[in-house]
Amino acid sequence: MEHTKYVEKPVTYNTKEITMNSLVDVFEKRHTTFAWDEERIPERELIVEALQEVHTHIPSKNLQFPYQVRLMRNDNPEIREQIFSICQRNMHMTVEEDYGNPQVLAPWLIGFNARFVSDLERRYEPDSVRGVYDGEGKGKVRTNDDNGAQTQTENIEIGIFSAYIMLALANRGIQTGMCANICINYEEATEIFKLEEDEKALDFRFIMGIGYGKDIETRHKYLDPRINKEKHIPFAPVDVEVVYPRPAFDDIIIQL
Ligand SMILES: Cc1cc2nc3c(=O)[nH]c(=O)nc-3n(C[C@H](O)[C@H](O)[C@H](O)COP(=O)(O)O)c2cc1C
Repeated sequence: MEHTKYVEKPVTYNTKEITMNSLVDVFEKRHTTFAWDEERIPERELIVEALQEVHTHIPSKNLQFPYQVRLMRNDNPEIREQIFSICQRNMHMTVEEDYGNPQVLAPWLIGFNARFVSDLERRYEPDSVRGVYDGEGKGKVRTNDDNGAQTQTENIEIGIFSAYIMLALANRGIQTGMCANICINYEEATEIFKLEEDEKALDFRFIMGIGYGKDIETRHKYLDPRINKEKHIPFAPVDVEVVYPRPAFDDIIIQL
């Protein structure tokens, strides 16, 4: 009998392996994209379909969704320049020298911001006060979260959503590029993504570019809209681990 069990095991394992390989395929497809294929623009419907897939399946604490995801077509030259300017890569460099964050020149962008959910949270925590929903204060950073607990949940949840949407899009052959580097001006990001029009929108967090990517082996060029000159992307995606060596598994995964 032991033997039968032993024989069955690899069958189960193989079944799992088939499922897991397809997920690994998607993991392997995704990479942070700096160079966008300007000839091919993903259709809104395709991106919205991926967003719906994520919205339907993603976990969220008490299904409160303490964040919003703002989808925007990035085709207005003035706004493209503005976004690129607030996403300077290295603040110690001049605009001429700086390689920038060309992820945000993608044909589509999503912006993430925290969302007022204190009304929902008060079902369980009567004293919850994160954010003020009073008809005033639109477009302001309204952090009033003393010990940072809710902000932490928002950030964790935005991170989970980011991972899901990157993979849901990669599964459709669409690339993404994260940019947390909005070092110059969060207020401008707040305006660009129209947070002030939405009373439930709290602090702006970060931007993700979405589009079809060019090949990952070439250090492509792009047009820096700040100076209207061509520059190389920061590095070819294939070289990422030369630029940023990946820490050893055991430094990150602690097996207790
Ligand atoms: C939360 C977050 C923010 C990031 N912000 C930036 C950024 O501002 N600029 C940038 O070039 N890359 C940014 N990245 C991309 C990482 O540097 C990238 O994921 C890493 O180098 C691994 O490369 P890969 O995504 O191609 O696997 C960010 C990644 C994460 C998870």
